[in-house]
Amino acid sequence: MTVPARHLPRPPGHRVLGHLPQWTFHPVSLLDAGAAAGPVFRLRLWRPVVVGYRPDWNRAVLKDLDTFRSRGSLSDLTPYLAGGVVHTDVPEHDHSRRALNPHFHSRALAPLTDRLREVAAWHAPVGSFEAVAFAGTLVRRMLNAALFDTRLPDPLLARFLAPLQRPNPAPLLPRPRLFGRLDAAIGRVVADPSPGSVAADLVDARAGETVDLVEELRVALAAGYDTTAHTLAWALWHLAGAPAWRRVDALPRVLDEIQRLYPAGWLGSRITSRATVAAGVALPARTMVLYSPYLTHRDPRLWWQPDRFGPERFDQGRPAWGFIPFSAGPRTCLGAHLARLMLQCALEPFCDGGELTVLGGDPAVRAGITLRPAGPLWLTRG
Ligand code: HEM
Repeated sequence: MTVPARHLPRPPGHRVLGHLPQWTFHPVSLLDAGAAAGPVFRLRLWRPVVVGYRPDWNRAVLKDLDTFRSRGSLSDLTPYLAGGVVHTDVPEHDHSRRALNPHFHSRALAPLTDRLREVAAWHAPVGSFEAVAFAGTLVRRMLNAALFDTRLPDPLLARFLAPLQRPNPAPLLPRPRLFGRLDAAIGRVVADPSPGSVAADLVDARAGETVDLVEELRVALAAGYDTTAHTLAWALWHLAGAPAWRRVDALPRVLDEIQRLYPAGWLGSRITSRATVAAGVALPARTMVLYSPYLTHRDPRLWWQPDRFGPERFDQGRPAWGFIPFSAGPRTCLGAHLARLMLQCALEPFCDGGELTVLGGDPAVRAGITLRPAGPLWLTRG
């Protein structure tokens, strides 16, 4: 049986303003309330949206790029993501990914490992430190090292990325002069890139004949920054509280679990290009649909004691379309391997048998464009 979207349940909202006040101030609680109403639910934001989180919904929304389009969805709201491959739809999206994918594959990135380990070792803190700020600096420098062999001026890169660490509306505001200066700096590196960097690989493979390299690299910086940094901050917090997991060989499972509990890309959106049916729901053309890795990863039907930190759960495998920290399907995160490599290298110095202890702070989730810890997260390393 097919349910029309207008008959879907809605969580309680304001009579006139709908769900906009909760969306603005408590978006995660709003999603939790929606999930309690049903596996697919409606919200009244500035336009009606339909949200689902079960694996059948994820599969329907993420596999079919022709019906579920990216352009016109929520990523258009921020200049940081309204560009490059993020802003393309089929068939251009396919061409762009073909040009970009080989250079972000784990095999292509493996030679960067030593360089990233050096950056991590150089920045490893001694004594007390605040993990969100530490992670922001380290990830910025790692991205600069991987993509550009550290040839972008760090103060300019820091200014470009800083709004992404601040709450809304900071990441939503246009900053044409700053973006122009960063594009010019990226352009100078791309004109004569250092061998071994991702920029050099892209230039050597003539990817610039298919995509705008400067724009793609700017979007990669923005998409890869706060996502990776916030994941790293939460990982440090949990590792400080669980010394048994502070082993290099255990880090992949720890990172899976951190990304399950705190998927930085907590919410994704699409627009239907035509009338369609997803997970038994009839959606008219031009409907905004949302999927939520956060709700999927906290669903007790998929995960035993979903709010508990337990990396050992990944020994049992993972549910199909039920573990999607990097999304899934043809639009899966371009930088997933780079993110995991940076996170692994960043955490290795903390697996040296030394002390890592929680001093205090607030690891609760706060949601903007990405999920971030409320913070601060104060730790000390011996
Ligand atoms: C832990 C870190 C990261 C997380 C959690 C993450 C998460 C995601 C998610 C969920 C999406 C899909 C968004 C959608 O629904 O359309 C995505 C897409 C994307 N990510 Fe990441 N990401 C991370 C790191 C990175 C890095 C390091 C890069 C740098 C290359 C990157 C570049 C991109 C790009 C370019 C896209 C768009 C792909 C497309 O539309 O085809 N991300 N990411």
